[in-house]
Amino acid sequence: MAIHDTPGRPCDSAVEMNELVLPTHTNSLGTIFGGQIMAWIDICAGMAAMRHARAQCVTASMDALDFIAPARLGELVNLKGMVNYVGRTSLEVGVRVEAEDPRTGVRRHTASAYLTFVAIADDGTPIPVRRLEPSTPSERLRYEEAEARRGQRLALARERARLRAEHDQRAGRDA
Ligand SMILES: CC(C)(COP(=O)(O)OP(=O)(O)OC[C@H]1O[C@@H](n2cnc3c(N)ncnc32)[C@H](O)[C@@H]1OP(=O)(O)O)[C@@H](O)C(=O)NCCC(=O)NCCS
Repeated sequence: MAIHDTPGRPCDSAVEMNELVLPTHTNSLGTIFGGQIMAWIDICAGMAAMRHARAQCVTASMDALDFIAPARLGELVNLKGMVNYVGRTSLEVGVRVEAEDPRTGVRRHTASAYLTFVAIADDGTPIPVRRLEPSTPSERLRYEEAEARRGQRLALARERARLRAEHDQRAGRDA
């Protein structure tokens, strides 16, 4: 069976990344820029998506990014990412970010995010992704929660399309 046909486990997609908060990453308060954390989250999640898909993946969206606490100059930033859910061509990846004071080893949860990636062929068109098989209770919970979020995302996209169509119709009548 080819790798693209073999179902994968969420834990096999797991990625862990560590970064050091340098002066170039911080604002005048000595805490990290939100955009820098977002970039690291995107990279960490992208690696997990590609590890599962065994294909190039692009970021389609990032939602529910919560900044819980700041990371400070000189701290270590630890990011953990894992695929939660797979649709036909898309994958949802969850990332948890912690900051660690290197002098004490004490860690704080600083951010969490969910991102959707789409696996693509060389010409940029979406391609099917192999199935995901959650096997532990926490993997199954993450899978079910991600499935619910996907339903909400699709419902929101449909509602936005409906409102846009209504707006275009009104604009056409008023012209
Ligand atoms: C993401 C992209 C490939 C989707 O292409 P598309 O032609 O709209 O694809 P489709 O409508 O066939 O949807 C493909 C999948 O993506 C999902 N998707 C599309 N847009 C999405 C969005 N904004 N958020 C979440 N999922 C999305 C669809 O639900 C579908 O999932 P499924 O196959 O699992 O059911 C395309 O919009 C793109 O190339 N965007 C730019 C990506 C990019 O440059 N990212 C930043 C740098 S990596």
